[in-house]
Amino acid sequence: MPIPKGPGVQRSVSPLQPSSHRLVNVIIDGNAVSVPEGTLVVEAAKALGTSVPVYCYHPKMDPVGLCRICLVEIEKMPKLQIACSTRVSEGMVVHTMSERVAEARRGVLEFLLLNHPLDCPICDKGGECDLQDFTMSYGPGASRLNEPKLHKPKAVDLGPTIVLDEERCILCRRCTRFDAEIAQERNLVVVERGHRSLIGTENGGAYTSYFSGNTTEICPVGALTSKPYRFRSRPWDLGHTDSICNQCPVGCNFRIDTRFGRIMRTFTRENTSVDDGWICDRGRYTFNYLYQPSRLRQPLVRRGGEFVAASFDEAIAASAGPLAAAAQTGRVGVIGGGRLSDEEAFSLQRFARQVLHTNNIDHRAGAQRLASPARYQARLEDLDDASLILIFGALTPEQAPILDLRLRRAVARRHAKLLFVGPYRPWFAVPCNYIEYTPGAIGDLMNQLSDVVHHGREEKGDGFVSEIANELVGAEKIIAIHNGRDADAAGALDRLMDTLHQYDHPVGILVVGSQANSRGAEAAGCIPNLSPAYIPVDDPGMTTHQMLTAAAEGKLDALFIAGANPALTYPDGLLVRRALDSVPFLAVAEQLMTETAAVADVVFAASSFAEKSGHLTNLEGRRQAFKAAVEPPVGVFSDLQIFSALASALGREGVIAADADAAFAQLRAAEDLIRRARGGQTSLPRPQTDDVSDLHSGDAVDATHHTLAIIPVPRLYGGGGAAAYDPGVAPMRPEPFAVIHPDDAVRLGLDSGDRVQLSGRGGSIEVEAKIADQAPPGVALVLADMPQAPVNRLLDASGFGSATAQKLRAEERLRGELGSSSVAVGDGYAAAGAGV
Ligand code: SF4
Ligand code: SF4
Ligand code: FES
Repeated sequence: MPIPKGPGVQRSVSPLQPSSHRLVNVIIDGNAVSVPEGTLVVEAAKALGTSVPVYCYHPKMDPVGLCRICLVEIEKMPKLQIACSTRVSEGMVVHTMSERVAEARRGVLEFLLLNHPLDCPICDKGGECDLQDFTMSYGPGASRLNEPKLHKPKAVDLGPTIVLDEERCILCRRCTRFDAEIAQERNLVVVERGHRSLIGTENGGAYTSYFSGNTTEICPVGALTSKPYRFRSRPWDLGHTDSICNQCPVGCNFRIDTRFGRIMRTFTRENTSVDDGWICDRGRYTFNYLYQPSRLRQPLVRRGGEFVAASFDEAIAASAGPLAAAAQTGRVGVIGGGRLSDEEAFSLQRFARQVLHTNNIDHRAGAQRLASPARYQARLEDLDDASLILIFGALTPEQAPILDLRLRRAVARRHAKLLFVGPYRPWFAVPCNYIEYTPGAIGDLMNQLSDVVHHGREEKGDGFVSEIANELVGAEKIIAIHNGRDADAAGALDRLMDTLHQYDHPVGILVVGSQANSRGAEAAGCIPNLSPAYIPVDDPGMTTHQMLTAAAEGKLDALFIAGANPALTYPDGLLVRRALDSVPFLAVAEQLMTETAAVADVVFAASSFAEKSGHLTNLEGRRQAFKAAVEPPVGVFSDLQIFSALASALGREGVIAADADAAFAQLRAAEDLIRRARGGQTSLPRPQTDDVSDLHSGDAVDATHHTLAIIPVPRLYGGGGAAAYDPGVAPMRPEPFAVIHPDDAVRLGLDSGDRVQLSGRGGSIEVEAKIADQAPPGVALVLADMPQAPVNRLLDASGFGSATAQKLRAEERLRGELGSSSVAVGDGYAAAGAGV
């Protein structure tokens, strides 16, 4: 339910929005229109379907009036005016196509083209370039310049994904304003002066923003082009398919552009409520993994200890017997759903419940326990006018970048306060207050806050709890963001929000998790105690942790894992290894040969997001459709086809739909039935979670013996999923590292850049040391889910752990490198847009 707005809270965040709601009457090119007073002339013209040419103007950014291409004639004004910065008033009469205007445009275009190289035939932008298009529509047919043109560098390496052609740049400054106003990073700038002016970086280094690809789209000419797309296709050769990004739970809308059945690029597809017209670089560039050798292209069956290629039918036959036998005894489990579509997640739980007759089904293959708030679900747009944003443990720049753009705007332009509560100092692009809190104590903090807010509204006590409570009580609208890892904290947050809501504060909660469709999988019933639409089941099954424990103890005969890689992502790596080694039969459906697939008995090659249709549910509970853009390789089948064929082989033909439309109809029918049964109940039941005390291994941290507490931290291009194998994001992918506090560095004899071996309960990993006080004393912040250095070896199921730290000498490093079987994932750099 969207959050009601508080008194005096305005939704508008853009300076471009009209200043009042009073309508004024304007005549543009003889046509009358009524628009809110203060509307820009260029926008009023749009309302009539009249397009005024623009270069520097962009509807998401402040107008700057640099290029003058938008000159229009306004009656009673002696000079031509720029439509992008002039606001309408009552009775204004505007001419956008008069001879005076046409002459001015010709002049502006002649000036812009003076030194322009006119290399349209080899320019990536050719065919979708505003300079080309406006010159054809309004420009002079020939240049009057007889002197040689000024030449500048043609292929300047601006950063890992962007090339700048300095000759083509018209200095509209859309790119630099995007970096300053939208991303709030202020690294991309105009350097030099006059005709020497160029686009460069403030720090003289590479342009490494997580949002850099957007500049190639908004650049009106071919000055900024993206490396993965350069010289790959012409715009008129591309087919377009509407899709949804599946790289994080924000669910940005984008378009997949294809040529000859292959993806060439992705492009924004504005949905103001979700992405506001932007996508991050991970979402933009993660598709080349589909064409890498690591992509699974046919089923594999293990024979004599080795994988052999098999037909789809052979793989189904090899799986049906062990799964049927395990189902007979109830010693079977199913893990997956968070990376699948809604239809597939629904069908996977149906496969577990109706074919294998078990409630042992869980989508949680990592540390996240919950994907939705029980009440007070916020929308992404609610961040726009929030006055206080409270973050509990979620690192939004890394886990939900486009959500983070909204947050940056709210803080930088609407003066929202940002407060992070968590176990380490976070990195945000905007000012953030930080309260260090151990993860297990956050629930207690929230309970204390509830008490103080409830009892102490008149007599506010001392201490920082009272200070935060005062902030809460004084806030006009509060949005809390948490990472869904701690079920107790989530319950306490619900109570805190209840308390605030009682005092008429608009409040809302967003859960930022690790998998793109955790929310959809939770709602579809990939939870042991909940069937679709959050209806409790009579006899709850086992959670992921319980299934893995049962498998490790020899109490499970078969596991089926679809679209999940617990060997890398589940916190207790030791437990996963024991479970996967012990379970007599393991079948995996995957796109890539992951750590989990590598130890399976049968591996099905599954289709990717671009090769199938369906729906994804984002973190605000918004269900969005995506369509297949390309065909999967022969031998690759959709997860639905795999589940359906397995069901048929187990004697339940027709129970699982093999195509997305039919599966979606089944899902909708189940939801409707259940919605009616639930009546007006608004609070969602909680998914079953494990007792936290069972999850802690009890490993102690002893600072005197080179031991550090281990906290895994997410990184946008980290992770063991598709991005690990994608050459498109390889230049941005970090090498594994650990951030260690300067005091610990002295104690351990470490310098930044040293290689350090961390050894814990499940083995050792080797990482680079970075010395910074973002890590509290006694703690190592270790990059999560890296195939070359799986931090889950050091963690228990609570998601935290401890390890001894030892500096590696040169010969030990060399030995490790020679003996290493790590995956090559590119050079990497450590800190794109981040503080470490
Ligand atoms: S690089 Fe493109 S967006 Fe940036 S100033 Fe030049 S023309 Fe404008
Ligand atoms: S923010 Fe998330 S959903 Fe949006 S483009 Fe980036 S990875 Fe994809
Ligand atoms: S678009 Fe109006 S001055 Fe550039």
